[in-house]
Amino acid sequence: MSLAGYYPKKNDKRFGKRTDNQFFILIAGATAQELEVMQSQGPLMLTAGETLTLNCTLIGSGPPGGVRWYKGSDRNQPPVYNDKGASLPRVERVQSGSNTDYSIRISSIQPKDAGTYYCVKYKAAFQETEFKAGKGTEVSVIATPSQPSIAGPPSRVDSGTSMPFNCSSDGFFPRDIELTWLKDGRLIQASHTVILPPGESISYNIVSTVQVFLTEKDVKSELTCQIQHSTLRGRSLRQSFKLGDVLRVAPKVSVESGQQLEVTVNQVVTILCSAKGFYPNDTRLVWRENGSETDLGMAESATQDWDGTFSVKNSLKVNATEERNHSVLTCHAMRNSQSYDHVNVTLRILREGKSETHEANQDNFFTKHAPLSYVGVLISVLILLLVAAILYFVWAKQRKGKGSTSVRLTEPEKTSGGTNQEPDPNNVTYADLNFDKPPKKSPRQVIEVSPKSEYASIQTAQPVTNDDNVTYADLDMVHLSKAPKRPAPKPEEASSEYASVQVQNK
Ligand SMILES: *[C@@H]1O[C@H](CO)[C@@H](O)[C@H](O)[C@H]1NC(C)=O
Ligand SMILES: *[C@@H]1O[C@H](CO)[C@@H](O)[C@H](O)[C@H]1NC(C)=O
Repeated sequence: MSLAGYYPKKNDKRFGKRTDNQFFILIAGATAQELEVMQSQGPLMLTAGETLTLNCTLIGSGPPGGVRWYKGSDRNQPPVYNDKGASLPRVERVQSGSNTDYSIRISSIQPKDAGTYYCVKYKAAFQETEFKAGKGTEVSVIATPSQPSIAGPPSRVDSGTSMPFNCSSDGFFPRDIELTWLKDGRLIQASHTVILPPGESISYNIVSTVQVFLTEKDVKSELTCQIQHSTLRGRSLRQSFKLGDVLRVAPKVSVESGQQLEVTVNQVVTILCSAKGFYPNDTRLVWRENGSETDLGMAESATQDWDGTFSVKNSLKVNATEERNHSVLTCHAMRNSQSYDHVNVTLRILREGKSETHEANQDNFFTKHAPLSYVGVLISVLILLLVAAILYFVWAKQRKGKGSTSVRLTEPEKTSGGTNQEPDPNNVTYADLNFDKPPKKSPRQVIEVSPKSEYASIQTAQPVTNDDNVTYADLDMVHLSKAPKRPAPKPEEASSEYASVQVQNK
């Protein structure tokens, strides 16, 4: 503290009892005019909401007149504090009534309160004039950035376009801030980021722009703007934006029958039109016949796919009358009563029994008449099979009546080890027939050995051309031969069903 110009009060103990003479000895040459306005505080930094205390002490004696506080150097604005007039709200004196201490308090400080505050001594006159001002106290208010906000395109944009998105946050101090963009959690680069104003300020704003290429896969995508600032103590402020809110995806409109449809006259055909993968749910399908609306269509309500896009169907049921030959059926994709896409189907009505139907079958797999022709083929096959079965049955009956010397022996046991049996690589064991003398003109013949068969067929007479129908009954007939029965070959297994057949030669 400088003592220059200090005029102690009468009760100031530091100077003890004094007279005016003593004062002049103490500070030689000082005059009553030498008043000092002391603002001893250095730069102050507060967090928004706190109370700011601004110190001001008057030292020495000055002319009569008030003391005011101003923010900034402009004396024409309303003072923050005026001891002889109106003050701003939230402002109060620390020592009310003091003639030396003009400190003030400003409660719940806000970023807008930041600035340089001057304590000013005025000189009373007809109109008060500034006498002396303090050096000023710099006040800055630490302020957290506001919740960021993202602005996208003003209306929906088609997939396949690149759109700018802006993220902004205001009113932060100090200036240092970090802003990052994420798309579905992955970092993406901003195209540019600015912090305003460029110079010194009590608070700053940030605006960042990112360019996003929107695809049909972005219906469920999320764009996130993330802000980090010293006031957030490690936390971050985030704002997300659903890209689906500004995205429009056009559907793929298709007709299952293809663009040309051949139908036999007077058949009823159903033509399914579908619109797939559109967003938002703003499309419906309408059928027109030769340009005019038809009520033959059956519209289904839209369904949503896992990727968020929608699908809708409309099936048209038409009777393939002769008059509809060359009719053009059009499936329109409509949005706000406006057609924005369509598919044409031209009908070709075929006269009944024309060979052209075959082409149609191949071309139009899903048309109504195609399944019918398959049914036809199936019926034909069944009839053929039935005829074959009848023929076979008749033939077998005839053959049975004539009698046969052909013998079949069942051999269900694949592993039987009979002495009279020769193992066969095809798992068929032939049964030996004990002939006294082999017949001269009919040698033992195996006439049918199928790899899967467990039959052994032995023929003692003329080979039969087809013996599929031989049964055990045939074997019984062999047992009726005139020769006496001989015992079964030994050893014989209990489970064996060998048959021993003896044929006497004359
Ligand atoms: C400001 O003034 C108050 C009371 O008026 C005092 O308690 C405080 O110490 C002063 N601060 C400074 C930095 O001078
Ligand atoms: C439809 O027109 C085609 C010629 O494009 C013709 O061959 C066909 O016989 C017509 N069908 C009927 C049912 O008249």
